[in-house]
Amino acid sequence: MSASEKKRNAAEAALQFIEPGMTVGVGTGSTVSFLIEMLPGIRDKIDHVVSSSKASTALLQENGFEVSTLNETGDYDIYIDGADESNKRLQLIKGGGGALTREKVLAAAARRFVCIVDDTKLVGMLGNFPLPIEVLPMAQGLVSRRMLKMRGQPIWREGFVTDNGNHILDVHDLQISNPLEMEARINRIPGVITVGLFADRPADILLIGGEDGGVREMRV
Ligand code: 5RP
Repeated sequence: MSASEKKRNAAEAALQFIEPGMTVGVGTGSTVSFLIEMLPGIRDKIDHVVSSSKASTALLQENGFEVSTLNETGDYDIYIDGADESNKRLQLIKGGGGALTREKVLAAAARRFVCIVDDTKLVGMLGNFPLPIEVLPMAQGLVSRRMLKMRGQPIWREGFVTDNGNHILDVHDLQISNPLEMEARINRIPGVITVGLFADRPADILLIGGEDGGVREMRV
């Protein structure tokens, strides 16, 4: 079974968590794109949608949805998004698509966070996937030096500008044995907008598309 098919199956399994009258937060990436294409099928259940990126907003609009802002909806029902890695505690690395800041805001405001992945994303320890950090452009050097001190290898994502006008550093070779501590530590570096570690606000439910076509559900 291809990674795309597993992602599609995980996205489909997330639909069962959307109940009538809900406001749905939508993440970013290829897994979520499958979800967005399925949302018109349950249009009647959805009161409002909020989006984590310009790309997802455009796709939602193509699929007939008017997109609300988080300031309009306030705290809301359910956020559905993919991830680059998850551990068994449902702490995540996110930001492979560069949308981590708005994703983190939407995850924080959601009563429930459902994460949809294929089975290659479940890992014992986070950090094999380079950790994305959104940084203020003028602080790129400072943040890079701080990450080198933390034994990471920061690489600027060349030619990439986030929806918020910032840069991304992808930090390789980190062994993230304590995700909560590392998230807090990186958050303290001046110029860091968002670190793509979702440990303080992990997912509540992880849906994992597997090789056999099934979808495994994990909760903390
Ligand atoms: C975007 C993200 C995505 O959720 C993550 O990169 C996974 O992407 P995909 O669903 O394409 O595998 O964090 O910023």
